[in-house]
Amino acid sequence: KPMRLWGGRFEGGPADALTRLSVSVQFDWRLAPYDLLASRAHARVLHRAGLLTDDELARMLGALDDLEQACKAGEFRPTVADEDVHTALERGLLERLGTLGGKLRAGRSRNDQVATDLRLYLRDHVRTIVSRLVELETALMSQAEAHASTAAPGMTHLQHAQPVSFGHQLLAHVHPLTRDIDRLRDWDRRAAISPLGSGALAGSSLPLDPQAVAAELGFDSAAPNSMDAVADRDFAAEFLFCAAMIGVHLSRLGEEIVLWASQEFRWIEMDDAYSTGSSIMPQKKNPDVAELARGKSGRLIGALMSMLTTLKGLPLTYNRDLQEDKEPVFDAVDTLLLVLPAVSGLVSTMRVNTAKLEASAPDGFALATDLAELLVRKGVPFRDAHEAVGHLVVWCQVNDKDLGDLTDDELAKVSPHFTPDVRDVLNVAGALAARKAHGGTAPDRVMDQLAALRETVDVQ
Ligand code: ARG
Repeated sequence: KPMRLWGGRFEGGPADALTRLSVSVQFDWRLAPYDLLASRAHARVLHRAGLLTDDELARMLGALDDLEQACKAGEFRPTVADEDVHTALERGLLERLGTLGGKLRAGRSRNDQVATDLRLYLRDHVRTIVSRLVELETALMSQAEAHASTAAPGMTHLQHAQPVSFGHQLLAHVHPLTRDIDRLRDWDRRAAISPLGSGALAGSSLPLDPQAVAAELGFDSAAPNSMDAVADRDFAAEFLFCAAMIGVHLSRLGEEIVLWASQEFRWIEMDDAYSTGSSIMPQKKNPDVAELARGKSGRLIGALMSMLTTLKGLPLTYNRDLQEDKEPVFDAVDTLLLVLPAVSGLVSTMRVNTAKLEASAPDGFALATDLAELLVRKGVPFRDAHEAVGHLVVWCQVNDKDLGDLTDDELAKVSPHFTPDVRDVLNVAGALAARKAHGGTAPDRVMDQLAALRETVDVQ
């Protein structure tokens, strides 16, 4: 006979098709540790309300401890007959306590329980996700430190634009992650509200103490409105936005790494431990980690869409649709905890091909802007300088020359502004060093940036 928490008013049992549709224990069982935590807090509050004697409380807490051990050891497992995690754990409690086990349900409902469990689960796992993000930041920052003075082709539209410090580019992937961490911190403030005590939707006629329960469970306070408390899944949707945003950041980093590792770029060499081979082509070394990081962002975005779509149009308060909140959340957590360590490993072990980066940094007339800005410093309007350098570039293309190869005569022929001293700005190291204002790519500024980032990471 299936274990049900609601048999009283029903004559026949549920149809198999209903049971199969309704059961969630196969995925919500991972909430068990949090459900047990909340049960302990609830037992204490029932005791303080005079609804459990000292002895009953002691036996109740003892049984909850025992059940927790049994769950951890795998001795107590949910069966297909348990509808959900709450049902399974109540069965475990009844097996241990007999009728006393039935007292714990007073004043609470699975509606406030499940909302509480999911918040506890997420707050806990978000801390782990933040640690994994910090590890990836750390990996990017050590590579950035080693390559603060390594010149690289800076790109817009995937075309050579201006030379940059490769460290600067690596740090450009750290800042999004610091924003992700910041977002998760901010998320936690709003997630730190306890729904327990809201019951099914209206609160309880029993003298419970939701604020005490909230404090015991590490929440900042109890929900101020019992109806909102059981209906609200903003915390899940907001978490999923944060997860999707992280996914997008990892995907953009992943895409760059795929390019960098290609034969055409050869900016980096991936470590064997973080690359894969081909079953047919013996020579292949593939960037699967980076591609999976890019690919998994799709599921994270999908999880957010799925959550928002579930919530849209739901009347207050609890509706069974809300059971659909868990799988996207669990999948997003699992996905991030799989992808982040792999990307950190890929980044920290990749070898940067400094010679290739430095050699290609000036390619594609990437110093043309420096030349135009030199003319500006000599008083030429930028509009004219831009035009003159444009002509010089075309002349070089037609004559198959680089900006740096031009003779004094050749320079002068294109424009009287191009006196021999313009050659001084046609070097990559100078171009980097010149961009020394706040936020610029000068190696000194990159090191300042790194120091500032390390400070924020240290307080994490
Ligand atoms: N398993 C459900 C969920 O995840 C909680 C059960 C509430 N069921 C109900 N009929 N009120 O949302």
